[in-house]
Amino acid sequence: MKFPPGFVWGVATSAYQIEGATEEDGRGVSMWDTFSRIPGRVERGETGEVACEHYHRYREDVALMADLGVTSYRFSVAWPRVQPDGRGGPNPKGLDFYSRLVDTLLEHGIDPCPTLYHWDLPQPLSDAGGWLVRDTAHRFAEYAAVVAQRLGDRASTWITHNEPSVSAFYGYGLGRYAPGEMRMLDVFPVVHHLLLSHGLAVRAMRPHLRGDAITGIAHNLSFGRPVSPAPADSDAAELLTALQVHLFCDPAFLGGYPSAVLEHMPVGNAVRDGDLALLTEGHDFLGVNYYGPQYVTAALPGDPLPFRLVDPPEGVRRNELGIAIEPAGLAELLGYLRTRYRSALPPIIITENGTACPDVPAPDGRVEDHDRVSYMDRHLRAVRVAIAEGSDVRGYYVWSLLDNFEWTFGYSKRFGLVHVDRATRERIPKASYHWYRDLIAATR
Ligand code: FCB
Repeated sequence: MKFPPGFVWGVATSAYQIEGATEEDGRGVSMWDTFSRIPGRVERGETGEVACEHYHRYREDVALMADLGVTSYRFSVAWPRVQPDGRGGPNPKGLDFYSRLVDTLLEHGIDPCPTLYHWDLPQPLSDAGGWLVRDTAHRFAEYAAVVAQRLGDRASTWITHNEPSVSAFYGYGLGRYAPGEMRMLDVFPVVHHLLLSHGLAVRAMRPHLRGDAITGIAHNLSFGRPVSPAPADSDAAELLTALQVHLFCDPAFLGGYPSAVLEHMPVGNAVRDGDLALLTEGHDFLGVNYYGPQYVTAALPGDPLPFRLVDPPEGVRRNELGIAIEPAGLAELLGYLRTRYRSALPPIIITENGTACPDVPAPDGRVEDHDRVSYMDRHLRAVRVAIAEGSDVRGYYVWSLLDNFEWTFGYSKRFGLVHVDRATRERIPKASYHWYRDLIAATR
């Protein structure tokens, strides 16, 4: 497989999912610490308290990345490590950790790609209304500036938010993720404050960033797919696509919110004068997290949403989370973005792609995750197709380096290229790790 010169090969992780050490070195409480302790929220009551012990084993993990040959590492910064209360002077020990991590990466020739927010909002800010309130966007910009001040001389690719749509819909709409609110589609203020906070953060970070630094958001962009060709199902699927893609990308690339989507969401007075201009700022690239499409049918009377989310129909392959596996959908999505946003579309980075497999080590200790190899191979071929068709894709990050805390699934779902033993935290590179290493070596 050939990729353009300078193509970025990476792996991605996030703080709460791997770091552990949640009570060390002055880290504050995040809303995921709180949420995961509520009985019934996470399988078997698991939390990120210990996770992969990455906070203490980061050198070992960077060595694994170096051996893998990745050119970039996408990690997230835990806001409560940097500002335990979500505001005010920084916690030096928390910042030191990320500074050491960045230095270690650079020593191994790996570019650090920090994500500032992967869902772990400081609890005091969540208590004050979280992303429902505008002040959180200002707090985020202040935090972003603090991190940029410390790491901005060494990191050049910056992601503000991971999957704002999941923050909004899973966190505040469906109640599946922290903070667990069930407002259904009444989450427009959350959407707006998240997107607004990107613009505010980029403005606040700029003075501290290197001249060549680029900034963007990692969105999870997927299509709604109708389970049947019936018009009502197709309409439901179109609405879901608009909620996932248009709602989050139109403000950046078309200068405003899609009116058809807003008909389904109470808008209130969240948008103030000057906001729309801010929403277009700081998109040097578009981060695309792609897993697969979401199947839907028309809503039934009494349903809380204007569509019904359903499992993929018989015959569609799915991963352990039940997500449909459709590599061609990635090329289709990239084509859709080209057509919809044309010259306003910046270069694309695939900021997450990967799958969960059972991954049981064989008696000889090897983990032969051939399904993951096939998944990555087919998705990278789809990226190639999109590039040949005209997409400007600059990089690809596998989700994830390590088996980790998969949110409500706890540790039961394994996404890593590296197996992590749940009792000893011993790391064992899987077959997919070796496959990815060979691929990177062959394409560089
Ligand atoms: C994405 C998240 C990431 C991980 C993968 C499987 O939505 O960004 O943290 O949970 O899904």
